[in-house]
Amino acid sequence: MQAWRGQLLRFDSEGRPAYDSDGLLVTRQDADGVRRVLDAGAHGAVAARHPGLPVEHLPGRLIAPGFIDMHVHYPQLDVIGSPADGLLPWLEHYTFPAEARFADPAHAAEVARFFFDELARNGVTTALAFATSHPASVDAFFTEAQRRGLRMIGGKVLQDRHSPDGVRDQTEQSLLDSEALIQRWHGQGRLGYAITPRFAPSCSDAQMHGAAELARRHPDTWIQSHVAENKDEVRWVRELYPQARSYLDVYQRFGLLRPRAVYAHCIHLDAADRLLMHETQTAAAVSPTSNLFLGSGFFDYAAAARHGMLHGLASDVGGGTSFSPFHTMLAAYYVGREGQSKPGLSLAPSQLWWQHTGGAARALGLGGVVGTLQPGSEADFVVLNPQATPLLARKTAQANSLEELLFALIVLGDDRVVEQVVGA
Ligand code: GUN
Ligand code: ZN
Repeated sequence: MQAWRGQLLRFDSEGRPAYDSDGLLVTRQDADGVRRVLDAGAHGAVAARHPGLPVEHLPGRLIAPGFIDMHVHYPQLDVIGSPADGLLPWLEHYTFPAEARFADPAHAAEVARFFFDELARNGVTTALAFATSHPASVDAFFTEAQRRGLRMIGGKVLQDRHSPDGVRDQTEQSLLDSEALIQRWHGQGRLGYAITPRFAPSCSDAQMHGAAELARRHPDTWIQSHVAENKDEVRWVRELYPQARSYLDVYQRFGLLRPRAVYAHCIHLDAADRLLMHETQTAAAVSPTSNLFLGSGFFDYAAAARHGMLHGLASDVGGGTSFSPFHTMLAAYYVGREGQSKPGLSLAPSQLWWQHTGGAARALGLGGVVGTLQPGSEADFVVLNPQATPLLARKTAQANSLEELLFALIVLGDDRVVEQVVGA
């Protein structure tokens, strides 16, 4: 058993925060080698239940669930900050050339190491990630995640059309490769496989059918893709699938909406789409820094809540501009606030935080597994320093409530705040 004492933030399964200004987190390593939360709460009460337990004391530090990034492209590390006139030119000029380099396994391994270092620096302990169309890029991702004992989900990109040489794959082989990667990696320790059709325009009907068939054969794998990010993209999909009711309906027709299916962006949806997401328990990965950077639009939080759409936060690096959950939460606040193109609202700091921890876990079908620090869940957590910068120290000293403390961290925080990451 191991225990940590400090300020302690947890969530219940509905996203309500629980905060102890003097808390204790007790963990135990189970027979499967995974460290889980045994007990947590106010120091006095919890310590009394575990007499004699050695405790690491972290005065002035906030212990909180590790962050969960619902959508990130690890091979786009070098694409961050590449300006373009929107999504489609950005893919063509920067993204596809960068991804073509992953034909080289040594390059993939080097980037994977850098990527996981960067996640750790920023307090991200779980991610749902795209690799590239090259199977070796998936091996590099999982090899490194396994070495570090992380809970990670990823998959080989499927893109057999409307894609340049170097990233375009071949229909039949792409599905065989995906099946082999599922066998090799899915369920190995804390690793999970995501079937990854890049987006409808880049996948032939045969590839989409094949992806759905894989998803049916392996119901506890994930599906990840993109939908309704950009108006030019939406128009393109309408031309490719004139018979579909909407962009989202294309995925529904192929059988690619289900629990553990996660679609990035979900901006240009209508009420019927949102209802369909709710009914199929399909989740949205909200990617605000990416949407602001590429000028894609604003996720409608009010409509998502109205339709009970599962959703959580994502960096979408390299469309996104930062690995930092603090930057992503702040951008989500801006996007929620925007009230010209949709209803504007002020998301509560604890709600933003939940969307990047336990809420993201729930949307991924990992409720109770990570993201809350509830007893029985895996003990992936961060130790944050609310005094990491002079301005943060000044601001957080004046916080009169948990919401004020969390908002100060969201607005002023970055990787300097993340002092330790403890993995299960
Ligand atoms: N749509 C298809 N591929 C991509 C990608 O790599 N990034 C983003 N943001 N959108 C996409
Ligand atoms: Zn993306």
